[in-house]
Amino acid sequence: MYLKLIFFLCVNVILVFGHKGNRNIVFPDSFKFGAATSSYQIEGAWNVSGKSESVWDYYAHTFPEWIKDGSNGDIACDSYNQIDVDIANLKLLNVNFYRFSLNWPRILPSARISDLNPDGLRYYNELINKLIDNGIEPMITLYHWELPQSIQDLGGWSNRLVVDYFVHFARVAFEEFGDRVKTWITINEPFSICSMSYEEQFLAPFIHSEGVGTYQCGHNLLLAHAAAYHLYQDEFRARQGGEVGFTMENPWHVPLDPNNPDDIIAAERATNFHFDWFANPIYSKDGDYPPSMRTRIDNYSSLQGYAHSRLPTFTPEEVDYIRGTADFLGLNHYTSHLSTLSENQTPDDNPSYDNDLGVVLTADPAWNQTARDTFTVYPHGLRLLLNYIKETYDNPKVYITENGYAGFQNETLNDQERIWYYQGYLTSVLEAIEIDECNVQSYTAWSFMDNYEWSDGYTLRFGMFYVDFEDPKRKRTPKDSAYVYQNIINRRYL
Ligand SMILES: *[C@@H]1O[C@H](CO)[C@@H](O)[C@H](O)[C@H]1NC(C)=O
Ligand SMILES: *[C@@H]1O[C@H](CO)[C@@H](O)[C@H](O)[C@H]1NC(C)=O
Ligand SMILES: *[C@@H]1O[C@H](CO)[C@@H](O)[C@H](O)[C@H]1NC(C)=O
Ligand SMILES: *[C@@H]1O[C@H](CO)[C@@H](O)[C@H](O)[C@H]1NC(C)=O
Repeated sequence: MYLKLIFFLCVNVILVFGHKGNRNIVFPDSFKFGAATSSYQIEGAWNVSGKSESVWDYYAHTFPEWIKDGSNGDIACDSYNQIDVDIANLKLLNVNFYRFSLNWPRILPSARISDLNPDGLRYYNELINKLIDNGIEPMITLYHWELPQSIQDLGGWSNRLVVDYFVHFARVAFEEFGDRVKTWITINEPFSICSMSYEEQFLAPFIHSEGVGTYQCGHNLLLAHAAAYHLYQDEFRARQGGEVGFTMENPWHVPLDPNNPDDIIAAERATNFHFDWFANPIYSKDGDYPPSMRTRIDNYSSLQGYAHSRLPTFTPEEVDYIRGTADFLGLNHYTSHLSTLSENQTPDDNPSYDNDLGVVLTADPAWNQTARDTFTVYPHGLRLLLNYIKETYDNPKVYITENGYAGFQNETLNDQERIWYYQGYLTSVLEAIEIDECNVQSYTAWSFMDNYEWSDGYTLRFGMFYVDFEDPKRKRTPKDSAYVYQNIINRRYL
């Protein structure tokens, strides 16, 4: 697979060059453009009208030292109070859809299904109705990291009970909003949810359970996603007619030296451990975890003296239950990495995902930097990833649900680097569609506006709209990239 893609890369430099400036290459009429946010990052109003705490409220308040600038999302962009402003700005972009997420403890403060918070329903109903009145489709993410703290107190994603709680929440969302909302993403970025909170201390709940809790979290996430999909399939699809999918976050992994077989193995393994960890159980013909993860983690666990593999096992019934539970593949993509095998290919005393993986990831110095050091710019990587998806998973329908550029806090309205970024990555998307026949049907820019970037606080700006976080009204101003994106949407070519 990797050799084929490397060859493909060379051939297409020629093909693409031949198409430069060719205005006949346009996005298909059915292709949709959108912009995205998530609840904690923009809403604020963390303690109004019956809402309870999410893990983010709790951890940002209790351990501000874990956030780069000690900040939190108490007010964020104040979007809870600014539905009309946000809709006017989305109209300026002329997007076909708006991807946003539901704040679980705003809707179900006690996590009990009987305890619906009327103000939570009011807020999302108003947002959904106004979007539709303005010709903008709502695309909803059920879970973009706002776990009710009361469920975290039970162990959160590492306790299997979370599956039942998540399905209750999904049922409320389908019941209350599903008459108008036709595109649902169950869970956003499983890899980040598990690896960045159980391995790297970057996301709430900031738990140290390296190489153990990480996989338990992933296991329950897959079961929770599948259960929500089955609920929709069994009880809602016939009358609501919408789609349910899953959004994974993935870099592309390039072999450090494409002529070195070990580096090719490293890149392939990194893709298995990152993308296929979640994609294989849902989107492959056979289902279940990728064989390379199974073998390696089983072996290391046994050498480390565990009675069971640290990677939990699905029963054959569960493999079947999870396989095929998606109407589309949601993809968030920001960057690519160079891959080479790490020197240590034996199990450490203390397990970790990194040790299981055994690959060192770096950036090519030729790739432009962004304000987040791990996010370098390599637009062609997206095209290669889209081709990998096409080849590995039988060309599924792909929605690109996030892609965007991190600017520094001191960024101005003249965000030329973001414009290059969008032009580069959208060129890759267009080539993947028109030349490679990848089934990509939509693209979502992250982000609609600057917002609270998790434990980076307000130190990074991802938005097409500049937000003044010093202003009590959180005034929004379009950056240059907003007009460029508007133009791309209007003309349907780059
Ligand atoms: C809500 O939180 C804010 C801080 O963001 C605080 O000033 C305010 O008093 C709180 N309101 C209630 C009702 O607890
Ligand atoms: C298990 O891992 C050890 C240490 O890396 C390696 O020597 C051995 O070949 C592996 N065994 C299997 C069955 O993969
Ligand atoms: C903006 O901030 C970054 C990071 O703090 C710094 O490296 C850069 O020099 C600053 N740019 C300007 C124009 O001040
Ligand atoms: C990288 O930065 C240079 C300017 O330093 C710019 O010309 C180029 O378009 C950028 N490439 C991408 C893909 O952003």
